[in-house]
Amino acid sequence: MIYDLIVIGGGPAGYHAAELAGKAGLKVLLAEKGSVGGVCLNEGCIPSKALLYSAKLFNGAVHGGKFGISVENAVLDHEVVINRKNKVVRSLSAGVKGRLRKSNVTMVSGTAVICGKRTGGDEATVDTVFEMKVDEDLYSCRQMLIAAGSVASLPPIPGLMDGIEKGIALTNREILNLKELPESLTIIGGGVVGLEMALYFSTAGSRVTVLEMLDHIAGPTDREISNILLKNLTKKGIVFKLNSRVTEIKGNEVFFTSEGEKGIIQSDKILVSVGRRPAVEGIGLENVGVAVEGGRIATDTNCRTNVDGIYAAGDINGKSMLAHTAYREAEVCVNYILGKKAVVNYNAIPSVIYTDPEAAGVGETEESALEKGYDFEVHKLPMMYSGRYAAENEGGDGICKILLERQSGIVIGVHMIGSYSSEIIYGAAMMVEKGMKVENVKEVVFPHPTVSEIIKEVLEFH
Ligand code: NAI
Repeated sequence: MIYDLIVIGGGPAGYHAAELAGKAGLKVLLAEKGSVGGVCLNEGCIPSKALLYSAKLFNGAVHGGKFGISVENAVLDHEVVINRKNKVVRSLSAGVKGRLRKSNVTMVSGTAVICGKRTGGDEATVDTVFEMKVDEDLYSCRQMLIAAGSVASLPPIPGLMDGIEKGIALTNREILNLKELPESLTIIGGGVVGLEMALYFSTAGSRVTVLEMLDHIAGPTDREISNILLKNLTKKGIVFKLNSRVTEIKGNEVFFTSEGEKGIIQSDKILVSVGRRPAVEGIGLENVGVAVEGGRIATDTNCRTNVDGIYAAGDINGKSMLAHTAYREAEVCVNYILGKKAVVNYNAIPSVIYTDPEAAGVGETEESALEKGYDFEVHKLPMMYSGRYAAENEGGDGICKILLERQSGIVIGVHMIGSYSSEIIYGAAMMVEKGMKVENVKEVVFPHPTVSEIIKEVLEFH
């Protein structure tokens, strides 16, 4: 049998594409070597949110005094938190499998390797069939989507691999399964993974130090917002060492230089969260000539690779490395296969850091807008202008910032830090995606009282 589409990898890009293609009537096979749901569902986005929710509740119990809440002997039971997280993951994973079955997708468990292609027919009707193996079983298809995801980057720090073998140094995968709370944790990398894990473990009671190579945390986040986040997380007891370069790991010790000074930190565990890299090895890309550029599969805005009939979506194309980008790429790819027009708009992809306070943004930041030469205006307000934010936050220092293209008044970026930012940002993503102008946004009725109204407030006097 020749499948219409074989999907390699069952993460957000792969399972979404398989489901959509199956629903559209294509004969689809999905190969997954681990658990369906990929990094996002099993060892990333979802499990970390389960942990952070427990941290939030615990924080409310411990620091609820100013809201009239006092709880004696509040305890965060890490084992219970991890067990609940596992339950959430199991139930969502079963849900994904159920949806794939309902869409008539054939699921194969094992490592898929692309073997090659056969071309038949004549010049006018070239018929290419791709072949792939899972263990000893051979499968054929007319189109293929590679969605094999990414793996945690492990920088060439002397002693790191030894630390990993000994279970002292961990990646996102192992840290989310730690049975016991470490007394102390050193985190290498102050990006999204590092910050979210720093917040959970420090709230739960670990002493946490974050070593960040740059002079700021949270990577490409709007700089003013990343500074507010740094201040808030520092207040919660997380120690940050910026401009830090880790030079060696020896057992439980991390050696580093920070602003010219040498330092050593000793901790029970070390989390390495310095980014991810596309998982391009071992899937036989070379057997069909799929081009890998800069360590990622090169794709266009339809997710096409350089080989006709082969697509790549999700982290493996290295464009944005976010689950929601992967979903959109999957839609665009399946639409393309079905002959429907669609492209991914990489300028309107929201990003969220699920810390407390939450930070979220979409579109240009002040820094990126300057770099790209935009002529723009910045409008911003403290979140305290929102009645609901004021009612729920004591001394909150959240802000909302909106960037407008000066001539047209088009919204080109929205960035915020404060409660519900993760939920509000989708509305802002619509503004950026649709190129809305200030006057269009002003016509929209926002529910009152919500923190989302801050967007209207910011634009009120424009
Ligand atoms: P990241 O790219 O977000 O952050 C890595 C940080 O490590 C950067 O600040 C970088 O400057 C720093 N760094 C790099 N090498 C270093 C070194 N040798 N020493 C010290 N610092 C160093 O990567 P992260 O946090 O590992 O996340 C991986 C991926 O997962 C990202 O693509 C991210 O977008 C995604 N993710 C998204 C989440 C969300 O949307 N909320 C949550 C978790 C992960």
